[in-house]
Amino acid sequence: MKKIVFSTGAGISAESGITTFRDAGGLWEQYPVMQVASAEGFAADPGLVHRFYNARRHDLAKAAPNEAHKLIAGLQDSFDVRVVTQNVDDLHERAGSRNVLHLHGELMKLRSVIRPEYTETLTPDNLDSSPDTRGRNGDPMRPHIVFFGEAVPEIDTAMRLAASADIFVVIGTSLNVYPAAGLMRCVRPGTPVYYIDPDPAPTPGMPDIRVMAVKATEGMRMLDRELRGI
Ligand code: APR
Repeated sequence: MKKIVFSTGAGISAESGITTFRDAGGLWEQYPVMQVASAEGFAADPGLVHRFYNARRHDLAKAAPNEAHKLIAGLQDSFDVRVVTQNVDDLHERAGSRNVLHLHGELMKLRSVIRPEYTETLTPDNLDSSPDTRGRNGDPMRPHIVFFGEAVPEIDTAMRLAASADIFVVIGTSLNVYPAAGLMRCVRPGTPVYYIDPDPAPTPGMPDIRVMAVKATEGMRMLDRELRGI
């Protein structure tokens, strides 16, 4: 089976009603990013950070996977599909994708402040956390999110995945944030690379990239047909 690696960003969840970060009206126009999504911000005001992610969990609870998430999951019947996502939502998993690697954490999980490997998954009837939240093991808990200023533990795995891809597909990312934005440059020479985004960022040094300047659902419908030889 050919291995297809998808590298997705906030844009793939836009058609599910989840706000992106840097589009007009995006999250970083509404909130001071360094106060709500950085290690320093969390140290300064953990309550504000917990409340920010509580609000995003309530938004996520109202969202559903869109056709792009579903088409990616559907390709698992014919390809070895791996998803590397910058997104912290669980829409890829809810669409049926079985191999999802979250580079920037997972919104529906909390992790111990003391033992980072200890996580607990929140449920639809228990979406909120605060600085007083304790895990079942008694540890103080925090959002399981990679804040700005923190390491991206899964990046080596993601780079190896990109280097093993037979096809590499980038969807819905402004390519602003490294190291995730550099994954497309880890592919082997000659690997077909696609970039689906209605307002694609420049991709210098990628002469053969196939840019599809359309929304995720339309681009995935086109790509699905191409990959299935339709
Ligand atoms: N379909 C596909 N792409 C879309 C759509 C859509 N319907 N709507 C918007 N986009 C594209 C935009 O054109 C833009 O290129 O999605 C991208 C969103 O870019 P960002 O908001 O910067 O999101 P992302 O690239 O995922 O941000 C990376 O930054 O703040 C951090 O940790 C956060 O993971 C996030 C990282």
